[in-house]
Amino acid sequence: MKAAGILTLIGCLVTGAESKIYTRCKLAKIFSRAGLDNYWGFSLGNWICMAYYESGYNTTAQRVLDDGSIDYGIFQINSFTWCRHGKLRENNHCHVACSALITDDLTDAIICAKKIVKETQGMNYWQGWKKHCEGRDLSDWKKGCEVS
Ligand SMILES: *[C@@H]1O[C@H](CO)[C@@H](O)[C@H](O)[C@H]1NC(C)=O
Repeated sequence: MKAAGILTLIGCLVTGAESKIYTRCKLAKIFSRAGLDNYWGFSLGNWICMAYYESGYNTTAQRVLDDGSIDYGIFQINSFTWCRHGKLRENNHCHVACSALITDDLTDAIICAKKIVKETQGMNYWQGWKKHCEGRDLSDWKKGCEVS
């Protein structure tokens, strides 16, 4: 029963809505305007690098994990702790529907990402960031973009 439900769910995800892939510089602008540059001390490059390795800048990216929870959107935010997916038992720390984290409007995803950084005291939540971005010179990530 549970397995069938999950299979149906995966089917829905695969045939889901059209995806939008942001360009690096468009994201840099959106992130900068949303106050992510140096948020909790993390420069803009950290955010652009993290989004790249988590989602490839794909706003509709979704990944089903072994425990049945799902990572959502450009920041791959997980349904178990951070958003409300509806069926699974969740904590929903961001007080947001997971579906709001896979829209082209990144407002809710950014608010939630800020909360994650604040509550977990850093960007270690993101494996892609830890593996590829942490402690590196990230200035190239905003190179050529019209952000300060
Ligand atoms: C973006 O993610 C969605 C959902 O996982 C996927 O269907 C789509 O193919 C991805 N787009 C690209 C260009 O990779």
